[in-house]
Amino acid sequence: MRVCIIGTGYVGLVTGAGLAELGNKVFCVDVDDEKIANLKKGKTPFYEEGLKDLIEKNLKEGRLFFTTSLAEGVHPSKIVFIAVGTPPKETGEADLSFVIKVAEDLSCLIDKYKIIAIKSTVPVGALELVTQILEREGKKKGVDFDIASTPEFLREGNAVYDFFHPSRTVLGYDNPKVGKILHELFAPLRAPILHTSPATAQMIKYASNAFLASRISFINEIANICEKVGADVVEVARGMGYDRRIGEGYLNAGIGFGGPCLVKDLKALIKIAENSGYEAHFLKSILEKNEHQTRTILYKIKQVLGEVLYDKTVGILGLSFKAGTSDVRNSLSLKIIKLLQKEGAKIKAYDPKAMEEARKVAPDVTYTEDPYETAQSDALVILAAWGEFKELDLEKIKGNLKNPVIIDGVNIFDPEKMRKLGFVYKGVGRG
Ligand SMILES: NC(=O)c1ccc[n+]([C@@H]2O[C@H](COP(=O)([O-])OP(=O)(O)OC[C@H]3O[C@@H](n4cnc5c(N)ncnc54)[C@H](O)[C@@H]3O)[C@@H](O)[C@H]2O)c1
Repeated sequence: MRVCIIGTGYVGLVTGAGLAELGNKVFCVDVDDEKIANLKKGKTPFYEEGLKDLIEKNLKEGRLFFTTSLAEGVHPSKIVFIAVGTPPKETGEADLSFVIKVAEDLSCLIDKYKIIAIKSTVPVGALELVTQILEREGKKKGVDFDIASTPEFLREGNAVYDFFHPSRTVLGYDNPKVGKILHELFAPLRAPILHTSPATAQMIKYASNAFLASRISFINEIANICEKVGADVVEVARGMGYDRRIGEGYLNAGIGFGGPCLVKDLKALIKIAENSGYEAHFLKSILEKNEHQTRTILYKIKQVLGEVLYDKTVGILGLSFKAGTSDVRNSLSLKIIKLLQKEGAKIKAYDPKAMEEARKVAPDVTYTEDPYETAQSDALVILAAWGEFKELDLEKIKGNLKNPVIIDGVNIFDPEKMRKLGFVYKGVGRG
């Protein structure tokens, strides 16, 4: 099939490359000239395992195209995916201005029947808005175009794997013809395909993210109780996860959830509820718990280094919002760095993939060549669970630290082993 993807960010690029690999001819469109010029040469705008190879292969085999011309992407395509950003407004509501702009541009370009499928996370009502914009230009729904909701569930850090192994595909539409065509496109992925209404598809996306966020806030609450009563939250989570009714995912205690999606989507859902006359108390408490959890790391650092931090250097390992990605959007590590800097602490930091991105938003940090240089500090704080941190030479780390202090915000080490090695070690919820 011929497919156009508008927006070559984390979602659009992975979806475009993945659909090309499945044998489709895919036209990826973006307004960012530099991004498109680099992509044409096979240079990816962010790190995601396997993505560069996938793009290079499909470029070479003539199934994947990059362009800044919307017309060039839309004209040959039967399905047009919208995958632009939907950032939060001040109020928490999803900002639909990028989606609206795309709809306005599309309204003059549609010359034969297209399916407009919205991959961006948008609230109920957004499809009607896009429909109205297209109809304003005289395009007829059901004749010139149809519209669908195809929410995305991939996880940054595992995005390519998730594209090829989705847990499910959700298709929301009201014309059965749309369901048949989209089903055909996604059937090779062999995941369960849920056919439903657009409103339900959009709520599946918001509810899924809110539920994942609730699991993280839940286990963080349990972790804090574990610390008071001398229990180990890692084992508590493992013990809970064996229960098939609970499952093991998203039960890692830590510094809370950050990143580009969970907080934004949770706030948007709270607003969706509010706008329809319902106050979502439970969802609000998930957010409150999350904000509190991030601050607990600061208390832990002060417990060992003392209340006064202005004469201290804190080494930070991990800058991306989670391991496996170079994305620093709403990274809790950068938030914690800011909190520490406000207290006067100096920061040294290292990340395997995210330093270039971090430098753009946090220039007043000393970025180091490797974790051992970062450890030349008063304490080392681990804020993303990169595999290479688990393999560190801990004796060398201890030798470099002024005090043998490790605050592990992502629980990658065994507390017993760390204490035996002579560290003052504080994980999250580890008794
Ligand atoms: N990042 C994730 O993990 C993830 C997962 C699931 C769903 N989502 C949702 O998917 C959507 C996209 O997220 P993302 O992280 O990929 O965003 P992103 O910011 O990485 O990418 C958006 C891209 O759209 C481009 N763009 C903006 N306006 C455009 C226009 N008029 N024409 C063409 N391109 C345009 C931007 O230049 C950018 O490259 C959001 O709604 C997000 O909530 C994201």
